[in-house]
Amino acid sequence: MTHIVHLIDHPLIQHKLTLMRQKNTAAAEFRRLLKEISLLLGYEATRDLSMTTKEIDTPLEHMDAPILAGKKMCFFSILRAGEGLLSGMSELVPSARIGHVGLYRDPKTLEAVEYYFKAPSDLANRLCIVVDPMLATGHSASAALTRIKEAGAVNIRFICLLAAPDGIATLKEEHPDVPIYTGALDRECNEKGYILPGLGDAGDRLFGTRSGTIKD
Ligand code: URA
Repeated sequence: MTHIVHLIDHPLIQHKLTLMRQKNTAAAEFRRLLKEISLLLGYEATRDLSMTTKEIDTPLEHMDAPILAGKKMCFFSILRAGEGLLSGMSELVPSARIGHVGLYRDPKTLEAVEYYFKAPSDLANRLCIVVDPMLATGHSASAALTRIKEAGAVNIRFICLLAAPDGIATLKEEHPDVPIYTGALDRECNEKGYILPGLGDAGDRLFGTRSGTIKD
């Protein structure tokens, strides 16, 4: 199966992402920019949704107007940075159900360990869009996708803000059926798993839980 990576390099995304990357951008501004970008990424990731028509009356005429054929979607946030993309996405499609996946990396085994999972029960009937701003090594994204598939999802897309080559390679290998939508392709991951040039720790920057520069 061909693995599809959609680079959504709209000028507004590039501009807003540059503002986000700057180390002195405050948490409130970072959150606002990520939410705005999530709307643009969300539009692209839903561009091919199937449509039908509905008979309506405008103030002037009767018409067959386009309308979404099925709105059954579920957005999954990979905790905690996924929340920064989720807020805009859920405004875009208010009828979407929301799932959450929480994973941490076991420091000894380096395996992703689940600490939280909650999802609607009818995932097989929904388009599932999984969001996490940073696709770095891809290990946690891959573990989250595996868990979401175990819960019944069959039609899945992945949205991130930044992707590194390692993360793309991991998903290509382990989830070739899941298309990736990303706002940028960055150079590499460092030995700690941070994306370079990147923007630092997305969770910390979103929620203001660490100040200063990440040195190593
Ligand atoms: N997660 C982050 O928040 N930042 C990175 O650079 C990589 C993973």
